[in-house]
Amino acid sequence: MKRIAVLTSGGDAPGMNAAVRAVVRKGIYEGLEVYGVKYGFRGLVNGDLKKMELGDVGDYIQRGGTFLHSARYPEFASEEGQLKGIEQLKKFGIDALVVIGGDGSYHGAEALTKRGFNAIGLPGTIDNDISGTDFTIGFDTACNTALDAIDRIRDTASSHDRTFIIEVMGRNCGDIALYAGIAGGADAIIVPEEKFDIHKIVEQLNVRRARGKAHSIIVLAEGVMSGPEFAAELDKYGDFDSRASVLGHIQRGGNPTTADRVLASRLGARAVELLLEGKGGLAVGIVANQIVENDITAVLQNKSEMDHRLFELSKELSI
Ligand code: F6P
Repeated sequence: MKRIAVLTSGGDAPGMNAAVRAVVRKGIYEGLEVYGVKYGFRGLVNGDLKKMELGDVGDYIQRGGTFLHSARYPEFASEEGQLKGIEQLKKFGIDALVVIGGDGSYHGAEALTKRGFNAIGLPGTIDNDISGTDFTIGFDTACNTALDAIDRIRDTASSHDRTFIIEVMGRNCGDIALYAGIAGGADAIIVPEEKFDIHKIVEQLNVRRARGKAHSIIVLAEGVMSGPEFAAELDKYGDFDSRASVLGHIQRGGNPTTADRVLASRLGARAVELLLEGKGGLAVGIVANQIVENDITAVLQNKSEMDHRLFELSKELSI
Protein backbone atom coordinates (compact mmCIF):
# COMPACT_ATOMS: atom_id res chain seq x y z
CA MET A 1 0.00 0.00 0.00
CA LYS A 2 1.32 3.41 -0.98
CA ARG A 3 -1.38 5.98 -0.69
CA ILE A 4 -4.24 6.60 1.74
CA ALA A 5 -6.81 9.36 2.12
CA VAL A 6 -8.68 10.88 5.04
CA LEU A 7 -11.97 12.76 5.25
CA THR A 8 -14.24 14.27 7.89
CA SER A 9 -17.97 13.94 7.44
CA GLY A 10 -21.28 14.86 9.12
CA GLY A 11 -21.46 17.34 11.98
CA ASP A 12 -18.03 18.66 12.89
CA ALA A 13 -16.53 17.93 16.30
CA PRO A 14 -13.62 19.47 18.19
CA GLY A 15 -10.65 17.15 17.80
CA MET A 16 -11.34 16.23 14.18
CA ASN A 17 -8.31 18.29 13.17
CA ALA A 18 -6.16 16.41 15.67
CA ALA A 19 -7.39 13.12 14.18
CA VAL A 20 -6.62 14.24 10.62
CA ARG A 21 -3.18 15.37 11.77
CA ALA A 22 -2.54 11.98 13.37
CA VAL A 23 -3.55 10.12 10.19
CA VAL A 24 -1.37 12.36 8.02
CA ARG A 25 1.67 12.31 10.31
CA LYS A 26 1.49 8.60 11.12
CA GLY A 27 0.94 7.81 7.44
CA ILE A 28 3.98 9.84 6.37
CA TYR A 29 5.99 8.37 9.27
CA GLU A 30 5.17 4.92 7.86
CA GLY A 31 6.28 5.95 4.37
CA LEU A 32 2.82 6.48 2.88
CA GLU A 33 1.44 9.34 0.85
CA VAL A 34 -1.65 10.83 2.47
CA TYR A 35 -4.40 12.75 0.69
CA GLY A 36 -7.00 14.95 2.37
CA VAL A 37 -10.54 14.92 0.97
CA LYS A 38 -12.41 18.20 1.40
CA TYR A 39 -16.13 18.34 2.28
CA GLY A 40 -16.51 14.70 3.25
CA PHE A 41 -18.21 12.26 0.90
CA ARG A 42 -19.49 15.10 -1.27
CA GLY A 43 -15.91 16.18 -1.92
CA LEU A 44 -14.94 12.57 -2.55
CA VAL A 45 -17.55 12.20 -5.27
CA ASN A 46 -16.45 15.53 -6.78
CA GLY A 47 -12.77 14.59 -6.69
CA ASP A 48 -11.85 17.32 -4.18
CA LEU A 49 -8.64 15.65 -2.99
CA LYS A 50 -5.24 17.13 -2.17
CA LYS A 51 -1.93 15.58 -1.19
CA MET A 52 -1.00 16.53 2.36
CA GLU A 53 2.49 17.25 3.58
CA LEU A 54 3.67 17.32 7.20
CA GLY A 55 3.36 21.11 7.30
CA ASP A 56 -0.23 21.05 6.03
CA VAL A 57 -1.39 19.74 9.40
CA GLY A 58 0.84 22.00 11.48
CA ASP A 59 -0.90 24.48 13.79
CA TYR A 60 -4.21 22.61 13.65
CA ILE A 61 -4.15 20.29 16.66
CA GLN A 62 -5.54 23.05 18.88
CA ARG A 63 -8.29 24.22 16.54
CA GLY A 64 -11.94 23.28 16.64
CA GLY A 65 -13.96 22.50 13.50
CA THR A 66 -12.35 20.64 10.64
CA PHE A 67 -9.96 22.31 8.24
CA LEU A 68 -10.86 19.65 5.68
CA HIS A 69 -14.45 20.93 5.95
CA SER A 70 -17.42 18.66 6.34
CA ALA A 71 -20.80 18.09 4.74
CA ARG A 72 -23.92 16.10 5.31
CA TYR A 73 -24.29 14.14 2.08
CA PRO A 74 -27.13 11.58 2.14
CA GLU A 75 -26.57 10.99 -1.59
CA PHE A 76 -23.63 8.76 -0.67
CA ALA A 77 -26.16 6.13 0.43
CA SER A 78 -26.86 5.47 -3.26
CA GLU A 79 -24.99 2.98 -5.42
CA GLU A 80 -24.27 5.75 -7.89
CA GLY A 81 -22.64 7.93 -5.22
CA GLN A 82 -20.51 5.09 -3.88
CA LEU A 83 -19.32 4.01 -7.33
CA LYS A 84 -18.41 7.60 -8.21
CA GLY A 85 -16.49 7.86 -4.93
CA ILE A 86 -14.52 4.70 -5.66
CA GLU A 87 -13.84 5.92 -9.20
CA GLN A 88 -12.30 9.11 -7.79
CA LEU A 89 -10.24 7.20 -5.23
CA LYS A 90 -8.88 5.00 -8.00
CA LYS A 91 -8.19 8.01 -10.20
CA PHE A 92 -5.99 9.45 -7.46
CA GLY A 93 -4.33 6.08 -6.87
CA ILE A 94 -5.64 5.86 -3.32
CA ASP A 95 -5.54 2.39 -1.74
CA ALA A 96 -7.53 2.94 1.46
CA LEU A 97 -9.53 5.58 3.32
CA VAL A 98 -9.99 6.84 6.89
CA VAL A 99 -13.43 8.30 7.58
CA ILE A 100 -13.88 10.51 10.66
CA GLY A 101 -17.47 11.14 11.67
CA GLY A 102 -20.65 9.78 13.24
CA ASP A 103 -22.89 6.91 12.26
CA GLY A 104 -23.86 8.38 8.87
CA SER A 105 -20.17 8.53 8.01
CA TYR A 106 -19.71 4.96 9.23
CA HIS A 107 -22.38 3.84 6.78
CA GLY A 108 -20.28 5.37 4.00
CA ALA A 109 -17.12 3.61 5.20
CA GLU A 110 -19.02 0.33 5.50
CA ALA A 111 -20.42 0.65 1.97
CA LEU A 112 -16.99 1.33 0.47
CA THR A 113 -15.49 -1.71 2.21
CA LYS A 114 -18.38 -3.90 1.01
CA ARG A 115 -17.55 -2.77 -2.51
CA GLY A 116 -13.97 -3.91 -2.04
CA PHE A 117 -12.36 -0.62 -1.01
CA ASN A 118 -10.84 -0.70 2.49
CA ALA A 119 -12.14 2.05 4.74
CA ILE A 120 -11.86 2.53 8.49
CA GLY A 121 -14.11 4.66 10.69
CA LEU A 122 -13.05 6.91 13.55
CA PRO A 123 -15.77 8.20 15.91
CA GLY A 124 -15.91 11.96 15.43
CA THR A 125 -19.06 13.43 16.96
CA ILE A 126 -19.92 15.44 20.05
CA ASP A 127 -22.91 13.14 20.69
CA ASN A 128 -21.02 10.10 22.08
CA ASP A 129 -23.61 7.91 20.40
CA ILE A 130 -21.37 5.35 18.68
CA SER A 131 -21.25 1.82 20.03
CA GLY A 132 -17.96 -0.01 20.58
CA THR A 133 -16.23 3.00 22.08
CA ASP A 134 -16.50 4.60 25.51
CA PHE A 135 -15.94 8.06 24.05
CA THR A 136 -16.12 9.80 20.71
CA ILE A 137 -13.81 12.58 19.55
CA GLY A 138 -15.39 15.93 20.50
CA PHE A 139 -17.58 14.69 23.33
CA ASP A 140 -15.28 15.82 26.13
CA THR A 141 -14.89 19.29 24.63
CA ALA A 142 -18.64 19.66 24.10
CA CYS A 143 -19.27 18.63 27.72
CA ASN A 144 -16.78 21.22 28.94
CA THR A 145 -18.40 23.91 26.82
CA ALA A 146 -21.84 22.97 28.15
CA LEU A 147 -20.43 22.90 31.67
CA ASP A 148 -19.00 26.39 31.33
CA ALA A 149 -22.46 27.58 30.25
CA ILE A 150 -24.14 25.77 33.15
CA ASP A 151 -21.76 27.42 35.64
CA ARG A 152 -22.50 30.84 34.19
CA ILE A 153 -26.24 30.27 34.12
CA ARG A 154 -26.14 29.14 37.74
CA ASP A 155 -24.81 32.59 38.71
CA THR A 156 -27.82 34.36 37.26
CA ALA A 157 -30.26 31.62 38.32
CA SER A 158 -29.24 32.04 41.95
CA SER A 159 -29.33 35.85 41.78
CA HIS A 160 -32.95 35.77 40.62
CA ASP A 161 -34.23 32.61 42.34
CA ARG A 162 -35.11 31.15 38.95
CA THR A 163 -35.36 27.69 37.51
CA PHE A 164 -33.30 27.23 34.38
CA ILE A 165 -33.81 24.53 31.80
CA ILE A 166 -30.57 24.18 29.87
CA GLU A 167 -31.03 22.30 26.62
CA VAL A 168 -27.92 20.54 25.35
CA MET A 169 -27.22 18.70 22.11
CA GLY A 170 -26.70 14.97 21.63
CA ARG A 171 -29.37 14.04 19.11
CA ASN A 172 -31.01 10.92 20.61
CA CYS A 173 -28.23 10.36 23.11
CA GLY A 174 -28.26 11.82 26.62
CA ASP A 175 -24.53 11.64 27.35
CA ILE A 176 -23.74 15.35 27.04
CA ALA A 177 -26.64 16.09 29.40
CA LEU A 178 -25.54 13.37 31.81
CA TYR A 179 -21.86 14.28 32.01
CA ALA A 180 -22.24 18.06 31.90
CA GLY A 181 -25.21 17.80 34.25
CA ILE A 182 -23.30 15.80 36.87
CA ALA A 183 -20.25 18.04 36.56
CA GLY A 184 -22.46 21.14 36.82
CA GLY A 185 -24.32 19.89 39.90
CA ALA A 186 -27.67 19.87 38.12
CA ASP A 187 -30.80 19.42 40.20
CA ALA A 188 -32.30 17.20 37.50
CA ILE A 189 -30.96 15.62 34.31
CA ILE A 190 -33.46 14.63 31.66
CA VAL A 191 -32.29 12.20 28.96
CA PRO A 192 -34.04 10.20 26.24
CA GLU A 193 -32.79 6.91 27.67
CA GLU A 194 -34.64 7.34 30.99
CA LYS A 195 -38.31 8.14 31.53
CA PHE A 196 -39.04 11.20 33.62
CA ASP A 197 -42.03 12.12 35.72
CA ILE A 198 -42.78 15.85 35.72
CA HIS A 199 -44.66 15.50 39.02
CA LYS A 200 -41.60 14.07 40.74
CA ILE A 201 -39.43 16.85 39.39
CA VAL A 202 -41.92 19.45 40.65
CA GLU A 203 -41.99 17.74 44.04
CA GLN A 204 -38.18 17.78 44.26
CA LEU A 205 -37.99 21.45 43.28
CA ASN A 206 -40.54 22.27 45.98
CA VAL A 207 -38.71 20.24 48.63
CA ARG A 208 -35.49 22.10 47.82
CA ARG A 209 -37.27 25.43 47.91
CA ALA A 210 -38.68 24.58 51.34
CA ARG A 211 -35.08 23.88 52.38
CA GLY A 212 -34.13 27.36 51.23
CA LYS A 213 -32.66 26.68 47.80
CA ALA A 214 -34.73 28.92 45.58
CA HIS A 215 -32.97 28.39 42.24
CA SER A 216 -32.69 25.20 40.23
CA ILE A 217 -30.76 23.93 37.24
CA ILE A 218 -32.31 21.29 35.00
CA VAL A 219 -30.15 19.93 32.19
CA LEU A 220 -32.25 18.60 29.33
CA ALA A 221 -31.05 16.54 26.36
CA GLU A 222 -32.45 17.80 23.05
CA GLY A 223 -33.64 14.28 22.20
CA VAL A 224 -36.36 14.52 24.89
CA MET A 225 -38.01 17.81 23.92
CA SER A 226 -36.98 21.43 23.53
CA GLY A 227 -36.00 23.62 26.47
CA PRO A 228 -38.85 26.11 25.93
CA GLU A 229 -41.36 23.24 25.75
CA PHE A 230 -40.07 21.80 29.02
CA ALA A 231 -40.13 25.20 30.74
CA ALA A 232 -43.74 25.77 29.65
CA GLU A 233 -44.69 22.33 30.96
CA LEU A 234 -42.99 22.94 34.30
CA ASP A 235 -44.66 26.31 34.79
CA LYS A 236 -48.06 24.59 34.64
CA TYR A 237 -47.29 23.05 38.02
CA GLY A 238 -45.90 25.95 40.01
CA ASP A 239 -44.40 29.39 40.07
CA PHE A 240 -40.83 28.49 39.11
CA ASP A 241 -40.14 31.60 37.01
CA SER A 242 -38.61 29.17 34.50
CA ARG A 243 -36.23 30.21 31.78
CA ALA A 244 -35.00 28.02 28.96
CA SER A 245 -31.53 28.35 27.57
CA VAL A 246 -30.73 26.45 24.37
CA LEU A 247 -26.96 26.08 24.08
CA GLY A 248 -27.01 24.97 20.43
CA HIS A 249 -24.00 24.99 18.15
CA ILE A 250 -21.59 26.63 20.58
CA GLN A 251 -21.21 23.03 21.81
CA ARG A 252 -19.70 22.06 18.47
CA GLY A 253 -16.97 24.70 18.45
CA GLY A 254 -13.92 25.66 20.42
CA ASN A 255 -10.45 24.31 21.06
CA PRO A 256 -10.46 20.60 21.79
CA THR A 257 -9.60 19.53 25.33
CA THR A 258 -6.51 17.50 26.20
CA ALA A 259 -8.67 14.36 26.38
CA ASP A 260 -10.05 14.90 22.86
CA ARG A 261 -6.65 15.72 21.34
CA VAL A 262 -5.03 12.64 22.86
CA LEU A 263 -7.96 10.41 21.92
CA ALA A 264 -7.93 11.72 18.34
CA SER A 265 -4.17 11.19 18.08
CA ARG A 266 -4.39 7.61 19.34
CA LEU A 267 -7.33 6.66 17.14
CA GLY A 268 -5.88 8.29 14.02
CA ALA A 269 -2.56 6.50 14.38
CA ARG A 270 -4.28 3.15 14.98
CA ALA A 271 -6.39 3.55 11.84
CA VAL A 272 -3.23 3.88 9.77
CA GLU A 273 -1.73 0.76 11.37
CA LEU A 274 -4.85 -1.23 10.54
CA LEU A 275 -4.85 -0.07 6.94
CA LEU A 276 -1.18 -1.04 6.67
CA GLU A 277 -2.20 -4.50 7.88
CA GLY A 278 -4.58 -4.59 4.93
CA LYS A 279 -7.68 -4.32 7.10
CA GLY A 280 -10.86 -2.40 6.35
CA GLY A 281 -14.47 -2.40 7.47
CA LEU A 282 -13.45 -1.60 11.03
CA ALA A 283 -14.35 1.12 13.51
CA VAL A 284 -11.63 2.16 15.93
CA GLY A 285 -12.60 3.10 19.47
CA ILE A 286 -11.46 3.28 23.06
CA VAL A 287 -12.68 0.93 25.77
CA ALA A 288 -11.30 1.09 29.32
CA ASN A 289 -8.50 3.31 27.96
CA GLN A 290 -7.39 0.67 25.44
CA ILE A 291 -7.63 1.30 21.72
CA VAL A 292 -9.89 -1.32 20.16
CA GLU A 293 -11.25 -2.11 16.71
CA ASN A 294 -14.64 -3.56 15.94
CA ASP A 295 -16.41 -4.67 12.83
CA ILE A 296 -18.06 -1.52 11.50
CA THR A 297 -21.30 -3.31 10.61
CA ALA A 298 -21.61 -4.59 14.18
CA VAL A 299 -20.93 -1.10 15.49
CA LEU A 300 -23.71 0.26 13.30
CA GLN A 301 -26.13 -2.46 14.38
CA ASN A 302 -25.55 -2.04 18.11
CA LYS A 303 -26.94 0.90 20.00
CA SER A 304 -24.53 2.78 22.23
CA GLU A 305 -25.52 2.25 25.84
CA MET A 306 -25.93 4.98 28.40
CA ASP A 307 -24.09 4.42 31.69
CA HIS A 308 -27.14 3.80 33.86
CA ARG A 309 -25.08 3.72 37.07
CA LEU A 310 -23.94 7.24 36.31
CA PHE A 311 -27.54 8.29 35.85
CA GLU A 312 -28.48 6.71 39.18
CA LEU A 313 -25.58 8.54 40.80
CA SER A 314 -26.84 11.83 39.39
CA LYS A 315 -30.18 11.21 41.08
CA GLU A 316 -28.58 10.29 44.39
CA LEU A 317 -26.50 13.46 44.34
CA SER A 318 -29.35 15.79 43.44
CA ILE A 319 -31.73 15.02 46.30
O1 F6P B 1 -24.49 15.19 15.59
C1 F6P B 1 -24.01 16.40 16.09
C2 F6P B 1 -25.13 17.39 16.25
O2 F6P B 1 -24.58 18.59 16.74
C3 F6P B 1 -26.29 16.94 17.15
O3 F6P B 1 -25.98 17.05 18.52
C4 F6P B 1 -27.39 17.85 16.70
O4 F6P B 1 -28.65 17.30 16.93
C5 F6P B 1 -27.11 17.98 15.22
O5 F6P B 1 -25.74 17.64 15.01
C6 F6P B 1 -27.34 19.33 14.63
O6 F6P B 1 -27.16 19.23 13.26
P1 F6P B 1 -26.93 20.50 12.29
O7 F6P B 1 -25.61 21.11 12.64
O8 F6P B 1 -26.93 19.90 10.92
O9 F6P B 1 -28.05 21.42 12.58
